[in-house]
Amino acid sequence: MHYQKNENDTLAQINVWKRNGFTVGFVPTMGALHEGHLSLIRKSKEENDKTVCSIFVNPTQFTEKSDFATYPKTLSSDINLLLKEGVDMLFNPAAKTIYPPDYKTKQYDLAGLDKNLEGHLRPGHFQGVCNVLDRLFKIVPADRAYFGQKDFQQTVVVFHLCKLLGIQTDVVVCPIIREENGLAMSSRNNRLTDELRKNAGFIFSSLIQLKQYFKQGNFKQGIDSFIKNISEHDGANLEYLKIVNMQSLQETDNYEQKSKIALTVVNYHGVRLLDNIRLD
Ligand code: PAJ
Repeated sequence: MHYQKNENDTLAQINVWKRNGFTVGFVPTMGALHEGHLSLIRKSKEENDKTVCSIFVNPTQFTEKSDFATYPKTLSSDINLLLKEGVDMLFNPAAKTIYPPDYKTKQYDLAGLDKNLEGHLRPGHFQGVCNVLDRLFKIVPADRAYFGQKDFQQTVVVFHLCKLLGIQTDVVVCPIIREENGLAMSSRNNRLTDELRKNAGFIFSSLIQLKQYFKQGNFKQGIDSFIKNISEHDGANLEYLKIVNMQSLQETDNYEQKSKIALTVVNYHGVRLLDNIRLD
């Protein structure tokens, strides 16, 4: 595996591969790798000749300094996982490589996609994601880049950003990988005790129940019982449940409409757990 920290060497290696006719897949991450990340890597390996993974904890997308400071860092075990998966290159830049001293933070016109849901609770978060991806896509001009459905709003923002910037990389969205009990895998799950983590399957089972109600046309009952289900768990606070259009991310109360997704965040004993389910 090539281990790169430097911008020019990374780009040069990608260009060598491309000149030799190899296709390149790219999986951007912030490290603390788990099966969710590995599923993106496996998909990229299936679809491309070469796979590049980046690990960079991007300071500009954190709205809380303490969240950035305590973000898990597990580089040596991450490297072992990448070696096991047969990744061709790890790009692991220093902050000054991504944001040199003369870097001017950009504001992208995201047509409001960055303003609601996670964007409302974490103002500036998606602008930070776009700043880092703009840099990363230039350093790793891959044929395809892989993102998880778990961060659904992020995938919509990334599609928009690629169109806006004329980025040639195709965005591929991969399904949510879950723990045995249904809890969506996340680097933040480590912040739960083992027992709480085991209990936290109720979020996904409540989403499945919501979907069943929606299938039967029992929309109000579905939403009411979701809220009730969550509130019945000690230490669980529903931050939001939103039924939105998958393209516009606009909330809809016309539940007969196609292309809907339910997005939720449950704060469980102080840990924000994101999840979602397509409703049609
Ligand atoms: P990070 O949280 O490390 O996630 C990297 C990628 O893994 C994202 O596309 C995310 O959606 C995906 N992922 C995380 N958990 C998953 C799961 N349980 N199943 C499937 N995919 C999952 O998202 C980021 O980093 C950053 O915002 C980044 C895009 C790297 C920009 O800094």
